[in-house]
Amino acid sequence: DGATITATIRADQPGPKVDADIFGQFAEHLGTGIYGGIWVGKGSSIPNENGYRSDVLAALKAIKVPMVRWPGGCFADEYHWRDGIGPQKDRPVKINTNWGGVNEDNSFGTHEFMGFAERLSARAYVSANVGSGTPAETARWVEYMTAAANSSSLARERAANGRTEPWTLAYLGIGNELWGCGGNMRPEYAADLTNRFATFAKSGSGKMLKIASGPSDSNYEWTDTMMRLSGKTIDGLALHFYTRPRDADWNDKGPALGFPEAEWASTLQHTLQMDEFITRHSAIMDKYDPEKRVMLAVDEWGTWYDPTPGSNPGFLQQQNSLRDAIVAALNIHIFTRHAERVRMAAIAQMVNVLQAMLLTDGPRMVKTPTYWAFDLYMPWQNATSLPVTVDGPRYRNGTVDIPAISVSAVRDTAGAVHVALVNVDPNRALPVTVDLKGVRATAASGRILTAEAMDAHNSFEHPGAVAPKPFDAARVAGGKLATRLPPKSVVVLRLR
Ligand code: AHR
Repeated sequence: DGATITATIRADQPGPKVDADIFGQFAEHLGTGIYGGIWVGKGSSIPNENGYRSDVLAALKAIKVPMVRWPGGCFADEYHWRDGIGPQKDRPVKINTNWGGVNEDNSFGTHEFMGFAERLSARAYVSANVGSGTPAETARWVEYMTAAANSSSLARERAANGRTEPWTLAYLGIGNELWGCGGNMRPEYAADLTNRFATFAKSGSGKMLKIASGPSDSNYEWTDTMMRLSGKTIDGLALHFYTRPRDADWNDKGPALGFPEAEWASTLQHTLQMDEFITRHSAIMDKYDPEKRVMLAVDEWGTWYDPTPGSNPGFLQQQNSLRDAIVAALNIHIFTRHAERVRMAAIAQMVNVLQAMLLTDGPRMVKTPTYWAFDLYMPWQNATSLPVTVDGPRYRNGTVDIPAISVSAVRDTAGAVHVALVNVDPNRALPVTVDLKGVRATAASGRILTAEAMDAHNSFEHPGAVAPKPFDAARVAGGKLATRLPPKSVVVLRLR
């Protein structure tokens, strides 16, 4: 319909702070997510710092990863922390029953994870084993990690294993998907267990927020029961939602590359459901917690496609394309809009698994389009959200009918205003005018992420195919920003 889209940014009515932790990432013992992806061991020929891949560390530092969640996922409710401490020769080899049935030699354990988070200057989020463990095991793990130096036998054991001072544990997950792989529980039983585990897990070094296993998608009954029975003992409730092109069938999700436009459209429509899920879970939480003390932690989100042909299906490997970058941007906009309740999130997952930030193959590494989306949105970390309204055309394809443009805006801690504009339409460039209420600016510049093909991606052969480029086609005059957004693009601008 060619009409100009009008958006309004209310910098004169600032909203809540956008917690940096909504840019958190999830790293599970799954496929090559940890082994090969993050950890290659000290003796590896792949360049590393004390066993951590140097290329991966550098890439993650560059986007200021604020938080890392570990060790699962489904893996967490089978994990026994004592298997992963002490000399390597004494660590048991187990079978990773959830993910491909491969050996788990426990060479990446508590010290290796905490060291990783520390190297990234990221907050640590550890998920405890509720499904097959005991409250005592979790309590001792927390004591091992956080008790003051020399204060107990566990603190001394930690020192003997190379770490005298306690670590800070920002988040403790009380199990994972307790309705499914975490133990197939009823919410009433899960809530009772949550209260038991939460009661005895006590941090010796600073505030540790306790995150309960929450709902997936639209399981509102789970949220209601958990909030009613555990709302006072927890600090957060997790939400998991995976975006799929064909959301009707988990066995036929659709390919990561080479998809038709209909699946571009259905993927973006599906991901936008995140807004509805957050809105409705939050409304239930409001009944029990009108102050919003308990956060909704979207600690697993992202795309889930059919695995890369020829890969071990249990490794959940998939390529990552421009479509994924658009998914990431739309979700960041949604989290920003719900910043009051959504104060932490973790994309699934960090390296080589599902909607990964980075892909590795032996010594090679590529940054995915999703990585570049996170790079573009760094100014959102700890900024003040600004209310936005958008009025304009739709993107339609088959039964899909969604807004063509998504806009998000923040004021960073130094006072600068940043505006992000996403055009989901893969065919049409769209003119946009943004009314900047309460902003004094005369110019805008920034970067764009786009490509010719919907499934443009970075391969090991062409690692730089999709990457941000400078964008200077925006004009600011008379309190309005005007530009033309290329099809299937993410544009992030800083106003001056
Ligand atoms: O991220 C992969 C898996 O998805 C996680 O282990 C589980 O929590 C979820 O079902």
